[in-house]
Amino acid sequence: MKKQKAKTKKAKDKGDKKLWGGRFKKKIDKQFYRFQKSIHYDYKLAEYDIYHSLIHVSALGASGLLTREEERKLLKALREVLDEIKKQEFKPHLKSEDIHTDIHNRVEKKVGKLALKLHSLRSRNDQIVFDEKMYCLKEYSDILRLLSGFLEELSNKHKNYEKDFFVGYTHTRRAQVIYFSDYLLAYAQMFTRDYERLVNFQDSLKITLGAGALAGTPLDSKYYQRAVSIAGLVKKHLGELTSPLDNVSDRDFIVEFLSILSILQMHLSRMAEDFILYSTKEFDYLDLPEEFCTGSSLMPHKKNPDFLELVRGYTGKLYGNLVAVLTMMKGLPLSYNRDMQLDKEPLFSSVETIKEELRIMVRFMRSLKLKKDNINRALKDEGLYATELADFLVFKNVAFKNAHDIVGKLIRYSEDKKISIKEMSEKTLKSFHKELNQKQIKRIMNPEYAVSSKRSIFGRSPKFK
Ligand code: ARG
Repeated sequence: MKKQKAKTKKAKDKGDKKLWGGRFKKKIDKQFYRFQKSIHYDYKLAEYDIYHSLIHVSALGASGLLTREEERKLLKALREVLDEIKKQEFKPHLKSEDIHTDIHNRVEKKVGKLALKLHSLRSRNDQIVFDEKMYCLKEYSDILRLLSGFLEELSNKHKNYEKDFFVGYTHTRRAQVIYFSDYLLAYAQMFTRDYERLVNFQDSLKITLGAGALAGTPLDSKYYQRAVSIAGLVKKHLGELTSPLDNVSDRDFIVEFLSILSILQMHLSRMAEDFILYSTKEFDYLDLPEEFCTGSSLMPHKKNPDFLELVRGYTGKLYGNLVAVLTMMKGLPLSYNRDMQLDKEPLFSSVETIKEELRIMVRFMRSLKLKKDNINRALKDEGLYATELADFLVFKNVAFKNAHDIVGKLIRYSEDKKISIKEMSEKTLKSFHKELNQKQIKRIMNPEYAVSSKRSIFGRSPKFK
C-alpha cells in the first residue's frame, strides 16, 4: 500500500498533475487522457505561454492580488523557465496535459503552493489564443524575411538573364518568345503579392487580454496594458477587448495564415513544376543544381529533381492543413470548444514546411543555370513567330482574322512541304500575301524582333521587395 502511494506521488512529479479535477470523483481514463493531451505539440508554444504568465503575474501584482514578494517570486520562477526555453534546454514533460499545465507544474516545483495563485482570474481558453497569436507574429515575420531573401535571389537571376531569350508556353505548347527574365518576373510578381498578403496579416493578430474563459475577468484590463511590454509587445500589436466570446472562439487568424501560406505554396509548386518540366531531356532548358537532386538506386544515369517534386508534393499537405482547420471550425457553437485544440498541428506543419522550402529554394535558385544552346535551338521553331507575322499584317491593314488565316496557311504549307518559311522564295511568300517577302520574314521571325515589338509592358524590370 505504501509502495503504491509512493508510486502515485512519483507519477505526479513526472508532470501529469492537472489544472482541474476538484469536481471529479473518478480518475480520468488513461487511454482518454493520452487521447486528449496536446503537450507533444503545443510545447512549441512554451515561450509564448511564459510571456502570458509574466504579463498575468504583473497584472495580478499591480492590482493588489499578489503581494510584491509573491509577484517577485513568481516572476523569477517564470523567468527561469523562460531561460531554459531560450537556451533550448527545455524538455516538455510528455505526461502533462498541455503546455499551460506543464509550465504551471514547473513553477510549482520552484515556488511551492504560491504557484496555485498563478492561474487566478485567467483561463486556458484565453491563454491559448494569446500563445497562438504570438506564435503567428513570430513566424509570419520569419517567413517574410525568408521570402524577401528569395525575392532578392530572383532579382539577381533576373539581372543575370535580363536579355536571354526564352520559349514562352501556353497549354504546354510553344507559344511566343519572351526573355527568361520575363518568366522570372512573373513569379517575382506572385511572390511579391504573397509578401504583401503576409504584411497585411499583421492586422489580424491584434492581441487582447482578459477574456477569461469566455465572459471576461474581474481584473481591470489597464493592468494588462501596462504589462504587455514584457512580451515585447507594443501598441500596434494590441487590440481592445470588446468581445471576450469572440476572443476565445475564433481562429480566423489561423485560417487566414494558412490561406496565405497555401497561396504561397501554390506559387512555389507551380515554379517547381516548371523547373521539373524544363529540366527534362525533352525540354532540356535548365541545368538543375546537382546538390538538390538525388540518384536512382537502380538506374545509374538518373539525376532526379526530388527537391522540386517534394515542394510540389507538399502542396497537398498545405491545402489539407487549411481545409482541416476550416472544417474543424465550421460547425462549432460559441464559444470555446475542445475541437479547437486541433488547429495547432496544421498550423505548425504549414509554417515549418514553408520555412524549410524557402530556405532551400533560395540556394537552389542561386545555382540554377540555363542551357542556352538548347534554348537557342528551340527558338528556331518558326511557329514561335507566327503571332508576330500576323501582327505585322495587321499593321499593313489586314483584318486580324484574315491575317490569322494567312499565317496559319503559311505554317501549314511549310509543314506539308517540309520547307522552312525563311527558305521560301519571294514568289511563294507573296502568294500568301503581297506584303510578305524575304526581307520582312527575316526581320520579323527572330527573337529580338519578337520581344522588342511588344509595347504593352510597363517596364520590364521588377519591383522586387
Ligand atoms: N489545449 C487547449 C487548446 O489547444 C487549450 C485550452 C483548453 N481549455 C479547456 N477548457 N480545456 O485549445
